Amino acid sequence: MKIACVGGGPAGLYFAISMKLRDPSHEIEVFERNAQGVTFGWGVVFSDLTVDNITRNDPASAAIITKEFAHWDDIDVHFKGETITSGGHGFIGIGRKRLLEILQERALELGVLLHFNSECDPADPKWRDYDLVIASDGINSRFRDANPQAFGIDEDVRANKFVWLGTPKVFEAFTFAFEETEHGWIWAHAYRFASDCSTFIVECSEDTWRSFGFDRMSQDESIAACEKLFAKYLDGHRLESNASHLVGSAAWLNFKRIKCERWSSGNVILLGDAAHTAHFSIGSGTKLALEDAIKLADVLNRPGLSLEAAMDEYVAERNLEVLKLQNSARNSTEWFETLERYTHFEPLQFAYSLLTRSQRISHENLRLRDREWLEGVERWFWKRATAGKSNKTAPPMFAPFKLREMEVMNRVTVSPMAMYSAVDGVPNDFHFVHYGERALGGAGLIFTEMTCVSPEGRISPGCTGMWNADHVAAWKRIVDFVHTQSKAKICLQLGHSGAKGSTRLGWEGNDVPLDDGNWPVMAASDVAWSPVNQVPRPMTRADMDMVRDQFVAAVKMGIECGFDMVELHAAHGYLLAGFITPLQNHRTDEYGGSLENRLRYPLEVFAAMRSAWPSDKPMSVRISATDWAGDNGITPDEAVLIGEAFAREGADLIDVSAGQSWAGQQPVYGRMFQTPFSDRIRNEGKLATMAVGNIYEPDHANSILAAGRADLVALARPHLVDPFWTLRAAAQLDYRDVAVPPQYLNGMSQLARNLKREAEMAAALRV
Ligand SMILES: Cc1cc2nc3c(=O)[nH]c(=O)nc-3n(C[C@H](O)[C@H](O)[C@H](O)COP(=O)(O)OP(=O)(O)OC[C@H]3O[C@@H](n4cnc5c(N)ncnc54)[C@H](O)[C@@H]3O)c2cc1C
Ligand SMILES: Cc1cc2nc3c(=O)[nH]c(=O)nc-3n(C[C@H](O)[C@H](O)[C@H](O)COP(=O)(O)O)c2cc1C
Repeated sequence: MKIACVGGGPAGLYFAISMKLRDPSHEIEVFERNAQGVTFGWGVVFSDLTVDNITRNDPASAAIITKEFAHWDDIDVHFKGETITSGGHGFIGIGRKRLLEILQERALELGVLLHFNSECDPADPKWRDYDLVIASDGINSRFRDANPQAFGIDEDVRANKFVWLGTPKVFEAFTFAFEETEHGWIWAHAYRFASDCSTFIVECSEDTWRSFGFDRMSQDESIAACEKLFAKYLDGHRLESNASHLVGSAAWLNFKRIKCERWSSGNVILLGDAAHTAHFSIGSGTKLALEDAIKLADVLNRPGLSLEAAMDEYVAERNLEVLKLQNSARNSTEWFETLERYTHFEPLQFAYSLLTRSQRISHENLRLRDREWLEGVERWFWKRATAGKSNKTAPPMFAPFKLREMEVMNRVTVSPMAMYSAVDGVPNDFHFVHYGERALGGAGLIFTEMTCVSPEGRISPGCTGMWNADHVAAWKRIVDFVHTQSKAKICLQLGHSGAKGSTRLGWEGNDVPLDDGNWPVMAASDVAWSPVNQVPRPMTRADMDMVRDQFVAAVKMGIECGFDMVELHAAHGYLLAGFITPLQNHRTDEYGGSLENRLRYPLEVFAAMRSAWPSDKPMSVRISATDWAGDNGITPDEAVLIGEAFAREGADLIDVSAGQSWAGQQPVYGRMFQTPFSDRIRNEGKLATMAVGNIYEPDHANSILAAGRADLVALARPHLVDPFWTLRAAAQLDYRDVAVPPQYLNGMSQLARNLKREAEMAAALRV
């Protein structure tokens, strides 16, 4: 095949090498706009896995690259005058210029033609003479942008400013240096890539950048200002840029996240940064470029594979890898963009939050890297959780937590889950066993299902209620069991179904109206939940008074039952959530319109409940932190305001859920997918929060808590099939100080022994 590679970066060169290795008869030319030896950037970081891949693909170039690698293990985080050092991170890096030299030499040796100083124009007819034109022309690819429809480009220009500099100062550890200035925070990511040189990337928000006047400075002035700012880390060494002699390069940039729906059109194939980018803070762009090159060369040389089939396989495999990385990269990018959310943290927690920002590194992962450091974090966490009384080295999820006078023994909660099994709202033996068993299971706090304040406020005929003496008696029996037979606390979740009422039992059809016996429903406005649901009657002020009083009456019954805590359900599209979201609330009075107006009634209900509930006992509110409807619904920004508004009325904890507020929601699922909302409310609003949503491993819980993304973690579905989730987690983590019912002690120690043995065998097999 006759092939042109446009762009002589890692992607283009490595693809040329990989093609020649598979079939020397290919005629391959690489066109690079810059002169030989001139390139942007300084060092690039690799992972062990990338080294394995390039070694298998071309042992000759890999041998030279790996011989020249700079290795380092530690990460130093400089923050508020402290340096937090953690080890075991195992990085390898090489200078970009040196990497390109090695690849150029190897390409020449294999017979590739290299053209430097060759600016390529996609409109040039000469590209038709090639069987394939590989657009390896980087993030600002002209070949991709010449044909945006064909490639389905999705570009996201990120908020922060950064400049990629170098310095002769040799950093022995991967260094993050955060400096607070009168213009805001500014920080550097620095690492050594040769025996005499380090990369030094400076980053800050656009506001800080403007306030510094970087927008008005020449490149030399910018560099001088950065030298001054980071002087204490540079030990008198200079900062340097190599962007000035480059075609089409600027000093300060905004990172652009690129992804493409299609990676080929006609004879043009996208490769490397032209097809996709991953933020520099997770250091994987070069790895992706090299691995793309290997895969593309593989499929193009596989006998019998048509070009179309080859492209399908190339894109399917590489796109999956890219999406995974872009997901982590997005978390990492956002962490730096919202840095000020975390700057009130103590240095140790700040460093932990930084290290776990992409969610690729977890608590247990950090333990494997540097046990001593992680144990230091755990001791710190316990000390804070116990106001200095304990400096236990133990997983954060087992640390106690206090809300008003209620102390929960650990941070795990059983999330509210409707069981649809009551008759006339009365909990029965099923509920007694269900809640009792979960209380024995070791979680610190058990939530009841949404318990409705009136018969009409039920979702289904099977919902539990709290409106008469039978309810009080039945709930009291459950609460008494929890208090006498376990150390768990129990919280009553109170709610009203609003527009989502009068529907079937959960397993007979969620949100589907009853076949017969439907009761009329009311809500903020006459907006039906879906075309098959009833159109609710918009609430009058008299209705609002009545429902508020029903909530208060239910709270008083909750006191009689002995509940430790009460939660107001103002999420998931039910009555109060229906007031908060503009998707359901179309009112034109003082309860509709602005967020302040939409919150007015839910806050009134909360305040009335709070006054009826004892002041030494805590209250929480469950909210949907997003409607998953973009700007048309509640946004995470507004969720902070909502949390703050309830806190002003006396909410001690914001239970941060999301969605279910309109039938057309577009949620983005994944592990711990709602935790970022809790993180935001907790750290921007400075409020106690509970995270929920696909948290299922003890490692998830510990990472969330230690990173300060929530104060409690709630698990719903995992507790349906495993009431003993917390005890199992304790056995797995070899933590003994949990509340095991004495009757079950034997089983617990047996489980712990077995899990330990299995872990040891798995570790031995890995070695
Ligand atoms: C600040 C920063 C730090 C980074 N750190 C890391 C890291 O630590 N690890 C890592 O793996 N990656 C890192 N990256 C990403 C990495 O640089 C890229 O992902 C990688 O270079 C992609 O390789 P590529 O060959 O696709 O593109 P590039 O390396 O951008 O190469 C494209 C080449 O095409 C040339 N070109 C462009 N247009 C034309 C044209 N019209 N005609 C001729 N030639 C053209 C360019 O001059 C360039 O040489 C970082 C990026 C940035 C911005
Ligand atoms: C069967 C079931 C019933 C639920 N009922 C309620 C409820 O009554 N009140 C509530 O606030 N959330 C309810 N939820 C939502 C859960 O509390 C939780 O927010 C959601 O399931 C996500 O957590 P998970 O991924 O751990 O399951 C219910 C969830 C399930 C699976």
